[in-house]
Order: sequence, then C-alpha cells, then structure tokens
Amino acid sequence: MGKPIRRGDALVLAHYYAPEEVQAQADFVGDSFALAQRAVASEKPVIIFCGVTFMGESAKILCPEKTVYLPAPDAHCPMADMAAQEEILHMRGTTDDLAVVVYVNSSARLKAYADVVVTSANAVKVVSRLPQKNIYFIPDKNLGTFVAEQLPEKKFFFGHGFCPIHNAATAQEVRAALAAHPAAQVLAHAECPGEVRALSAFTGSTAGMIAYAEASDAQEFLVATESGTLYELSRRCPGKKFYSTRADFVCADMKKITPQALADVFAGGGTPVEVEEGIARRARRALMRMLELAR
Ligand code: 13P
Ligand code: SF4
Repeated sequence: MGKPIRRGDALVLAHYYAPEEVQAQADFVGDSFALAQRAVASEKPVIIFCGVTFMGESAKILCPEKTVYLPAPDAHCPMADMAAQEEILHMRGTTDDLAVVVYVNSSARLKAYADVVVTSANAVKVVSRLPQKNIYFIPDKNLGTFVAEQLPEKKFFFGHGFCPIHNAATAQEVRAALAAHPAAQVLAHAECPGEVRALSAFTGSTAGMIAYAEASDAQEFLVATESGTLYELSRRCPGKKFYSTRADFVCADMKKITPQALADVFAGGGTPVEVEEGIARRARRALMRMLELAR
C-alpha cells in the first residue's frame, strides 16, 4: 500500500462512459480528446484517470512528470490491440506518400509507429491538414470510413479494427427506435457502422453528440453510443428526452471503474501507469502532432 493521495494534489478525469457515480466525483468529464487536453493543462502532480488503459497511457506519455493512476487497470479497450506494427511496416514499404494515422484507442506500442494520432473529435481536421495523399487509418475501420467520406481528396487504406460495442449497432434497431419515437433525431458515434451513421442527424465524437443535442431545437434524441453518455446529456439538456437505440449499449470495461476503485487509489492502493521510455518517446511525437494539428 502506498501513501494516501490528498484530494487537492489530484486531477480526477472521467470519460462519459464511466459509471454515473464515478462521473459525479470527477473534476472534469469529457471525451478522449478533451480529457487528453485537460491532462496536459493540469498543474496537479497526480492524475487519476477514470477510463480504459489507452487513456491512462496517453496521459502518462503526454505528461511524463506526473503520476497517473487508472482506478481499474484491467479496464482495457479491445480495439487497442486490433492492429499490428508489422502491418504498418508493410504499408510503409509498399505505398508512397503515406501517412500512418492511428486512432487514440490503441496500444502505446502502436502509437509509436504512427505519424499522427487522432481522436474521433479531431480526426477529420487532423487528417485534412496532413500533406500526404495516402492515408493508412488504423485500427477503427468505421471511424476511418467516416473520415474518408469527408475527405474525398485523400486515398484511404483501412485497418480491420472496430469497437465491439458501437459496431454492434444496426440500422434495424435504430429504425425500430424511430418507429417508437418518430419526432426524435438520431445521434451516432463515429465508431458506429455506416448503416447507422446514414440514419443520423449528427455523427461525431461523444462530446460532439452532446454539443449537437444542446444546440438543437429538437426535444427528443435517439442516442447510438455508450449509455453512460445519457447522464451528461440529461444534465446539460434539462427538459429534453434521450433514449438509447439499444437496451444494452454498455462498455463492460468502462463499467469496471467503480467508486470503490477510485477510493482505493486515493487510499494509496493504486499502481502508477508506466510506459517503456523508447515507446513513450515515439508515441509522444505522434500525440503532440495531433495536439498541434487539431488547434
Ligand atoms: P470519444 O471519447 O472520442 O468519443 O471515443 C469514444 C470511445 O469509444 C472511447 O473509448
Ligand atoms: Fe473501447 Fe468501445 Fe469500450 Fe470505447 S466503448 S473503450 S472503443 S470497447
């Protein structure tokens, strides 16, 4: 058991997909991009990241001087391992004028082979600013396809990764939800398949979906993303109604982050996140390039 952490020394960050009771205790709740920005801007020596492993790793890579904890170190995004460095090396060896774009939902090792990292909030902007014509977008094929649709001037090559939670969304279930709520607008996360994005009034990152709902005149929304997002949607849009497009739109890994796990870190029971220095140095370059190009 380590030393207890004083509340004032720690910035508690939570993703929208963390359980409501955890979000309620956080200093800041956001999507992957906003959370990375907050980590960098913080002056506190400790970051407690209520998210999955790639989020804690990215915070540690961007803030090597800080101590970063994950309350649930076994909360791991399966998409993080759905690409291999060998595939990147093969593409680099066979394609000219190529940029390797790695979605932030990936292992630190994969980021070390990237030219730039993106999140769902900034992928279109960042890729549009790359000088290369050819874009190898990994691991998420759905997000990659969404980005490619906005940037016809580029030639895209996709990986084969996907989020098991968002990729399971279907047009059929969205149509059934629309039949029950005909006045509702559909909000889809960019990790959803094309058939679901095609039915949406808005597609983007979790924060983008929330901002759209806040600004819209519509009063009812069907939400095609992880159900934890409904907590922030209801908080930010009192009076508007939100329904999940599926009863179990739940990321089991995000739900491993319990209030007890957070309390245990404060009590001194956490293990700091470590990333091997050679990997961290190269991954930092790709993450910093994202922060520059997303400005
Ligand atoms: P954003 O945080 O970019 O919306 O991504 C969603 C996600 O699946 C995070 O794991
Ligand atoms: Fe990974 Fe999907 Fe869970 Fe996000 S919602 S952490 S992409 S499995």
